[in-house]
Amino acid sequence: MNTIKKYAVSAIAAISVVSAFANGVTKSKSEDIAKKIPQETQEQYNKRISWWINDRFGMFIHFGLYAAPARHEWMKKHEKLSNEEYEKYFENFNPDLFDAKEWARSAKKAGMKYCVLTSKHHEGFCLFDSKYTDYKITNTAFKRDLVKEFVEAFRAEGLKVGFYYSLIDWHHPDFTLDNCHPLWGRVKAEEFNKGRDMARYRKYMLNQVTELLTNYGKIDIVWFDFSYPGPDGKGRDDWDSAAIYSLAKKLQPHVIIDNRLDLNDVPGGTDFITPEQFNPSSWPKLNGKKYAWETCQTFSGSWGYHRDELNWKSAKQVIYSLVAAVSHGGNLIMNVGPTGRGEFDYRAKRRLDDYAKWMHANSRSIYGCTEAPEKYEAPEGTILTWNPKTKRLYIHFFYYPAGQLGIKFGKDIKYAQFLHDASEIKVALAGKGGAFCDTESGFDAHLFFPTIQPDQEIPVIECIMK
Ligand code: GLC
Repeated sequence: MNTIKKYAVSAIAAISVVSAFANGVTKSKSEDIAKKIPQETQEQYNKRISWWINDRFGMFIHFGLYAAPARHEWMKKHEKLSNEEYEKYFENFNPDLFDAKEWARSAKKAGMKYCVLTSKHHEGFCLFDSKYTDYKITNTAFKRDLVKEFVEAFRAEGLKVGFYYSLIDWHHPDFTLDNCHPLWGRVKAEEFNKGRDMARYRKYMLNQVTELLTNYGKIDIVWFDFSYPGPDGKGRDDWDSAAIYSLAKKLQPHVIIDNRLDLNDVPGGTDFITPEQFNPSSWPKLNGKKYAWETCQTFSGSWGYHRDELNWKSAKQVIYSLVAAVSHGGNLIMNVGPTGRGEFDYRAKRRLDDYAKWMHANSRSIYGCTEAPEKYEAPEGTILTWNPKTKRLYIHFFYYPAGQLGIKFGKDIKYAQFLHDASEIKVALAGKGGAFCDTESGFDAHLFFPTIQPDQEIPVIECIMK
């Protein structure tokens, strides 16, 4: 352990003594957990996560039995259904139009570089051929191991692959009642929990994580989801997060793991943080420090296929989410919820096409990019990204300006062009080129535009800096 990490361990120890007894529930201390999980130096961490930070854009896929009711992946909870009442979705499951290659091709075309699939969601149904349960895809009419086809197809397209694995399991016979459970408020905890044993469930999770991380080759990302500690919830001691985390890293030392195991206060306990369904307005921090992060978002609200949802975001909104993430040093993982027949919904396809068109022309402002240096102030109505290697600054136009735009970093620009067609954008410095430059507002140059917005949802100007 290097000195920075050692310092972090002792600094956090003080906090954890207090937090240990919050909510009247005892929680293992962060410094005790830190000793159980693998530690690495900052340099090793940076190296391990560098591909992911560079790639910026991924696809999430939420697929499970909930595609059939088609009204949210939490419908079992929303409608307080028992296993018996939910069983019809298992009996009828057969995504006959599923084509892993088609999924992979659309992700790639959209410019996504990695993909995370729900190997098991909260309902407990497994998309892989697990030895430890009968509640799995190979026992449905579909019969095939969908996870296997997924990893092969996505890898073949050159995409990195990841598994989402739900810590919550509303089907498992040992999983006890809590405030997230579908039967919460419908059954008595003492009765429901009779004969249930979370220790057996913890073993089940370790067995399945072992299967997922040994039977499918190299896995690049794992998303464990999620913790809700408190008297009626579940957190790191219920899951034995330290054991899960350590096992995953032992089986696949390079793997990148999210922060939903309730280990945020544990040094080395997370690789990235996961703001959900919103665009942070500045670089998110963990324990006071800027941290690797990824926002996960949907096109329409629900993660699983939702037939009747009307909240579909526009092309501009979904592109904005990507640019906004990169502009604050983060990633975006955008979700698709395939239909019960195993295909991407037509509305999702439209948005993926919007990404494809935009990324085809503009991906240079995304891959390898991050937050721009402070000295470059974003002109009104724009968002900046920055490639530190090539020293190129990208200006994204959410409102297309009327002919000219004042900027404050004109003297640093060597050359400027539209990114989509490499056509020159003239930079007229104050006092030169006859520009009407409002120097009193701090502008040192004007950019000159064609009057008509190019055929780009969000036009981008690439500035090659001196
Ligand atoms: C939430 C939801 C879940 C979804 C996930 C994705 O935790 O419970 O349905 O899978 O977010 O981030």
